[in-house]
Amino acid sequence: MDGTLGISEVDQKEFDALIADALTGLTAPQKSLSPKWLYDHHGSALFEQITNLPEYYPTRTEAGILRNHAAALSGLVPHDGALVELGSGASIKTRTLLDVGSHFGTYVPIDISRDFLMQTADDLQNRYPALKIAPLVADFSAPVTMPDPLAQIPKVGFFPGSTIGNLTPERAKALLAGVRAWDGITAFIVGMDMVKDTKELVAAYDDAQGVTAKFIKNILVRLNREAGANFDTEAFRYQASWDSELARIDMHLVSAHDQHIRLAGHTIAFQAEEAIHISAARKYTPESVRELAQSTGWDVAIRYTDADARFSVVVLTPCM
Ligand code: AVJ
Repeated sequence: MDGTLGISEVDQKEFDALIADALTGLTAPQKSLSPKWLYDHHGSALFEQITNLPEYYPTRTEAGILRNHAAALSGLVPHDGALVELGSGASIKTRTLLDVGSHFGTYVPIDISRDFLMQTADDLQNRYPALKIAPLVADFSAPVTMPDPLAQIPKVGFFPGSTIGNLTPERAKALLAGVRAWDGITAFIVGMDMVKDTKELVAAYDDAQGVTAKFIKNILVRLNREAGANFDTEAFRYQASWDSELARIDMHLVSAHDQHIRLAGHTIAFQAEEAIHISAARKYTPESVRELAQSTGWDVAIRYTDADARFSVVVLTPCM
């Protein structure tokens, strides 16, 4: 057994995990679903659409920071070393680093969405024929271990998009500590969105065109299709709110009226106005960035930001 699973086994595992997760989440006193299930093929495409919305500033702000500091950032990767990206999606902003990273040996995109990952890997191989592309299907909300030939190579981690903010504080810490423990890790580049004006924050997660609402509701569409559930997507409305205590945006789907849903042989009751928590997007301050780094074995070597300090690209180096 070499640890490689066939496609059908992978799909079966993911299917089982989706149902187990959904049942656990929807039968808890505070109903919830994990945001990782938002990113099926359709959800990933909707998210790409979100990144182009006028209200959604994080993607273009981070892209600007990456462009401004591309040379310094790519220079962190040792000669013939690897850039390892967690949650790579379409790897669009990574190209900013790959374009000036002719000394990179390997690029390792890690993503949970197999189809999207493989498509992206093919596309990247055509764009960068000299670079070794080694895609890894994995869920970064659990510990990610480097498969053998990659384990030995000196490497820099890359986790853009402020996706770290979608993890619970415990999981965010576990992820940082996990990457810190990788063999040959020399730096970790992490995109982190910053606390700012509440109106601006809420608008970024509740856009006028309703793309974010569609993206979040897609989780119900997915449960209907893949788990045989019978959600009426019209009977739930999308709601985004800012929690100043926890410094995060919360994304909910709120039941419009009393209703019952069938899912995998179970009946789930919803009261009118009862909410399913789908995702949280944590926002950071310079202090909370430092605190998070220091508690997980990292130093903040440098924090690159835009002129309005909306977003940070943080370079973490192992704390000695
Ligand atoms: C996954 C962190 C890039 O939280 O900002 C955007 C996901 N969800 N709008 C974020 C998301 C709704 C996004 N990231």
